[in-house]
Amino acid sequence: MLVSYKTILEKAFEGNYAVGAFNCLSLENVIGVIKAAEKLNSPVILQLAEVQFPYSPMELMAPMFLKAAHESKVPVAVHLDHGQSFETCAKAIKLGFNSVMFDGACLPYEENVRITSDVVRMAKAVGVDVEAELGKVGDTGDGGEGTGDASTADVFTDVEESASFIAETGIDALAIAIGNLHGNYIATPKLNIQRLKEIRERNNLPLVLHGGSGTSEEDFKACAHNGIAKVNVATAVQMAITKKIQEYLATATKPNYIDMKWKMMEASEEAAAYHIELFESVNKAF
Ligand code: 13P
Repeated sequence: MLVSYKTILEKAFEGNYAVGAFNCLSLENVIGVIKAAEKLNSPVILQLAEVQFPYSPMELMAPMFLKAAHESKVPVAVHLDHGQSFETCAKAIKLGFNSVMFDGACLPYEENVRITSDVVRMAKAVGVDVEAELGKVGDTGDGGEGTGDASTADVFTDVEESASFIAETGIDALAIAIGNLHGNYIATPKLNIQRLKEIRERNNLPLVLHGGSGTSEEDFKACAHNGIAKVNVATAVQMAITKKIQEYLATATKPNYIDMKWKMMEASEEAAAYHIELFESVNKAF
């Protein structure tokens, strides 16, 4: 069933577990992720980021996400990930996404506050929830070009700034930077759990971890137990599919597209199930 993002996150926040938010770029992703959530009786979030629109257009993906959510036996929220403008957030809301992220993390603080507040006003008027980001969750530079190093404190979310940002904008959840990066890590990162605890202590609001793929099991658990109520996962699902297709093509005597579709669904399901179990949201469907 389609359930509000805020409800799903607040329950996770109170229950000390996290919900997986999986970037779904295809029908196979959606089917696999929903299957994993239903088998494990877990809430889940289907999401699509603006940078993914060129190959997974929002207009085509939204009806599929919504239908899958409505038909599902478990609570599902449909979320716009990394909206880059007020206009994209408005478009996503019109298409039925029940939560949107405005990502102004690279903007000066005041401008991030201004646009995020505008998005919150618009979204709240129609019952849609809003996530925003403070601090910089960088990019590993997929394919090994980046340093994979986000250990410098100046990109971390500032504790005091997080409190004023939440108060000034009225958001429903805050994405934070504690050493997490999007994409393939070169080495397993060590997240700054101490900073997470300080942000959690200062604010009574569900927190979001972006760049979930490649995080250690220990850090995932520490996050889920210290205020992270949503973990974004994209790369891990894509890598699982690529690996499965490579194996299939290497062994199949008569490779064909239909079998590849099944493999993509299976890999999506397995990767989602692995994360759902780690995040401890098994049997948390309500
Ligand atoms: P990963 O690709 O590193 O899992 O990050 C996903 C993400 O944070 C999407 O917003």
